[in-house]
Amino acid sequence: MKFERVIRGGTIYNGDSTIEADIGIEDGVITALGRGLEADDVIDATGKKIFPGAIDGHVHLQLPFGGSVSADDFENGTKAGACGGVTSVIDFAIQGKGQPLMEAVEARRAEADSKVCTDYSLHVATTEWNAQVARDFREVVDYGIPTFKMFMIYKAQGWMADDSTLYQGLELAADLGAQIGVHAESVDLLDLLIGRYKRHPDREKLGARAHTLSRPAVTEWEAVQRAITWAEVTGGRLYVVHTSAGRSAELIAQARDRGVNVYGETCPQYLLLDDSVFDGEDGHLFGTCPQIKSKEDSEKLWDGLTDGSMHVLATDTCTFNRSQKAAWNGEFWNIPFGLPGVETMVPLTYTHGPAAGRFSINHWVKLVSENPAKIFGMYPKKGIIAPGSDADIVIWDDEREVVITPSVLQTNCDFSPFEGFTTKGWPEKTFSRGKLVAEKGKFVGEVGYGEFVKRSTGPGIW
Ligand code: URP
Ligand code: ZN
Ligand code: ZN
Repeated sequence: MKFERVIRGGTIYNGDSTIEADIGIEDGVITALGRGLEADDVIDATGKKIFPGAIDGHVHLQLPFGGSVSADDFENGTKAGACGGVTSVIDFAIQGKGQPLMEAVEARRAEADSKVCTDYSLHVATTEWNAQVARDFREVVDYGIPTFKMFMIYKAQGWMADDSTLYQGLELAADLGAQIGVHAESVDLLDLLIGRYKRHPDREKLGARAHTLSRPAVTEWEAVQRAITWAEVTGGRLYVVHTSAGRSAELIAQARDRGVNVYGETCPQYLLLDDSVFDGEDGHLFGTCPQIKSKEDSEKLWDGLTDGSMHVLATDTCTFNRSQKAAWNGEFWNIPFGLPGVETMVPLTYTHGPAAGRFSINHWVKLVSENPAKIFGMYPKKGIIAPGSDADIVIWDDEREVVITPSVLQTNCDFSPFEGFTTKGWPEKTFSRGKLVAEKGKFVGEVGYGEFVKRSTGPGIW
């Protein structure tokens, strides 16, 4: 038989297996693996590594924040992802106070659907708890969104979910098999410390350094500990987003050892950068939330990823360019929080993960693709190269070393937090449901091609 398209000659790396096989594709779906597959349309991948497309389960595209809107929108953010080997992203529909959750979902879909260039989905961020929200929770899960988000900070933005909201959300999540993601930081402690640094006699001299001094690791791990406590007593499934402190990773590992249903995510900025970035003239460009911590913290995060007690690599992409960041005007509390990253996660974590000998390529595939697919309820449609799965595929060029600088990237950002990092390899070709969407770092797909992915509750990865 002849397939519509065949990717021939490569070595496929899934989370649990390495297979020498051609890939037969029909209607965007993988229909066969094996050598000697035939098609008129053959992509030669002889001698190349092949990975399932990465899933970035944490992005904020065109997010209104601090008087600006993040500069990578649904179109450019998904183009950038495609160039960097990411074939699915999950953004957020954030509930306004009193807003029905499905209205928030529909509003965000109206912004995204015609723009996305690869597949995407949404988590729903709830900001309050009442009988209506509890009813809406069920509706949202039935609709195909089994993952919620609660911010333990951001009171001023109206996004904060207090402990009572988090507790009740976890209770209902336990009932429904849903999952609550948390941005875990301690709001009262942060208010206190930020207030102190605003009044600090050396505030001007400290500049962006005050951003990190006012957000020590305890501001995160205290909140992680608290959220784990609520998960432990309610039985609700908890997912800690953008874990940045080593002690948070240890708390997640200890909780899992006790049988608590908790997962951990971290991001390249917490693995590859340290808080010395705030010392320079451009320190404010690195302002993100939670803030970048110490080298010791990074090592503990790597340890968690290596031993399997941390589960997901994501980016928290929230791009603000130099002119947007300039709005801080010397006041550390006014820095627009967020960094670009969806385009560089795969090459950077490949380089510093398997290529640096930290763990196997298969283990890395779990972190960037298989685990998020399972934890977010998209597996086996996404997260694996196997018959029946979407043909979301990356052909990897091991020979291509890229020195990261904005001019080689698709992102709308005019700086990269990883400027000057050299990667060992880069995606040569990225396919989304069988369609070539990026080649050698250039987007070649179609605006609006991406589809909204409805997801299901599932067992996660226990
Ligand atoms: O600084 C960040 N990460 N901005 C986006 C919102 C969030 O906290 O994830
Ligand atoms: Zn956050
Ligand atoms: Zn975020």
